[in-house]
Amino acid sequence: MRIGILTGGGDAPGLNAVIRSAVRTSHLKYGFEMVGFLDGYAGLVQKQCMNLSLETVSGIIHRGGSILGTNNKDNPFLFEITRDGNLIYEDLSQQAFDNLKDLGIDALVVVGGDGSLTIANKLSSIGVNVVGVPKTIDNDLLETDYTFGFESAVSVATDALDRLHTTAESHHRTMVLEVMGRNSGWIALHAGLAGGADIILIPEIPWNLDYVVRKISERVKNGRGFSVIVVAEGAFLPDGGQVFSYSRLGGIGNAIVSSLQERGYEARGVVLGYLQRGGSPSSFDRLLGTRFGSKAIDLCAKGIFGKMVCLKGGDVSYTDLSAATLHQKKVPPDCELVEVAKNIGISFGDE
Ligand code: F6P
Repeated sequence: MRIGILTGGGDAPGLNAVIRSAVRTSHLKYGFEMVGFLDGYAGLVQKQCMNLSLETVSGIIHRGGSILGTNNKDNPFLFEITRDGNLIYEDLSQQAFDNLKDLGIDALVVVGGDGSLTIANKLSSIGVNVVGVPKTIDNDLLETDYTFGFESAVSVATDALDRLHTTAESHHRTMVLEVMGRNSGWIALHAGLAGGADIILIPEIPWNLDYVVRKISERVKNGRGFSVIVVAEGAFLPDGGQVFSYSRLGGIGNAIVSSLQERGYEARGVVLGYLQRGGSPSSFDRLLGTRFGSKAIDLCAKGIFGKMVCLKGGDVSYTDLSAATLHQKKVPPDCELVEVAKNIGISFGDE
């Protein structure tokens, strides 16, 4: 077989572990050839690709980003092109399909989040043999316990919370850390618990500034003159709106800082941003990426397509791409982690 692979959407630590594992499994277990498309779906539409030999994936397991490049704007079904000086969108999925045929590619592994995997599912419906691999630091994909990249992002956010604690404590002030996650609060919840936050604000749990202030002032009364808040970028303001900067979610942390200062509390904000996506993957993500990459090639070898590899209860298996991309996975407000957080006194600003 000849198998194509592309990495789509925002990057996440562990992409290179997946590529390396897929290439090594292809060559060493099956004697398959592999072709990597450059910059996500752009490479598929524009036939920009490279042969992936064992040498090309040597020494990359610890590297962040993707050796193939990625992007989160190109979609073969709605591809941006310039015609007569005007920017227009065209359905170039047939061109993508033909490119695969021309290159003699029998199957395509798409490593992506819900956007890229929704496109992969559409490619599957037009006859491309597709296998998906769940990637995103946000962990907001259905049908898998974890996506790779999430654990590394949580470690970065936890480290940031540790650092913010010491400065918050010394200055007797409130520090607000804004983390990524789009419309889900997985990073905020996990990092908040691991990093000992006092208050966690997520999109799934409506919160109110009075309860946030009450928690901070209770701590002051108990001799804890500092507080650490972690807020997900997609958390809703009490009036129901979200905060955007440069047409991306972001800025709620500093909005909370302003509100706290208006109420007389000294507060400072930090937006962690892309630091959560860059850099070396954690050992968990290297391992998960390696398991996912190898499983994806096993599925190709067995002719099992239209699926996404996944982690369920500790085992790597697979699920329908269509089921995984129905909607984004949210934090259930009554889940065990939220309950544990409440048990140990963490406030979600909701009571
Ligand atoms: O999907 C991962 C993510 O990091 C989100 O949490 C964030 O909102 C988004 O990507 C921003 O990415 P970009 O600026 O690359 O679109």
